[in-house]
Amino acid sequence: MSHNIKIAPSILSADFAALGEEVRAIDAAGADFIHVDVMDGHFVPNLTIGPGVVNALRPHSDKIFDVHLMISPADPYLQAFADAGADILTVHPEAGPHLHRTLQTIKSLGKKAGVSLNPATPVDSIAHVMDMVDLILVMSVNPGFGGQSFIPSALDKLRRLRTMIEASGRDILLEVDGGVDRTTAGQVITAGADVLVAGTATFRGGPAAYAENITALRQGGKVLAA
Ligand code: DX5
Ligand code: ZN
Repeated sequence: MSHNIKIAPSILSADFAALGEEVRAIDAAGADFIHVDVMDGHFVPNLTIGPGVVNALRPHSDKIFDVHLMISPADPYLQAFADAGADILTVHPEAGPHLHRTLQTIKSLGKKAGVSLNPATPVDSIAHVMDMVDLILVMSVNPGFGGQSFIPSALDKLRRLRTMIEASGRDILLEVDGGVDRTTAGQVITAGADVLVAGTATFRGGPAAYAENITALRQGGKVLAA
């Protein structure tokens, strides 16, 4: 199946001392989404970015801000991230007791709603909210850190979710996050992903390499999918 592949660089791998510049650089290099990894040191063992940083970065790019919330609870912060300029708010089902309510809140804020599935989280956990989601994010590493190795069982999960999305008849993006590089990009695209998050593989080599890195990720899939 040939589809339109989007690349979402994770700024977790950017130079944090020059984040605005880094966001402008990946925008110019062809990024489709700006992927922002929000971690609370509780849901995942790392601390990163809050709404203040999202707000500060917003003027640096008109691209879609794809905000991945690895925080628990997420509900008290949805408004703040929406106000800061997030376009997509993605949550994990384990982060709160009422996924349906969380998705309702995101939609009521006028934002796209995403659900992220950890490596051990079954695809069935979103079966009853398919009518509410705009994006499904398959974690191909355990969330918390960049630079980890791709977990191959994500491929089967992507295939199953692609089938569920087709059956739903809805326009739902299927995103994959973790260990996506020039080797695995083709595999995830063939399995049905249409948004590839890439931190290490985008930022490797510094700004002069960003455009080539992004193009390679996008094309790697096209070659294998052809
Ligand atoms: C992991 C994050 C990812 C991560 C990806 O918890 O959600 O977005 O930054 O990094 P790479 O592409 O280096 O695996
Ligand atoms: Zn992420």
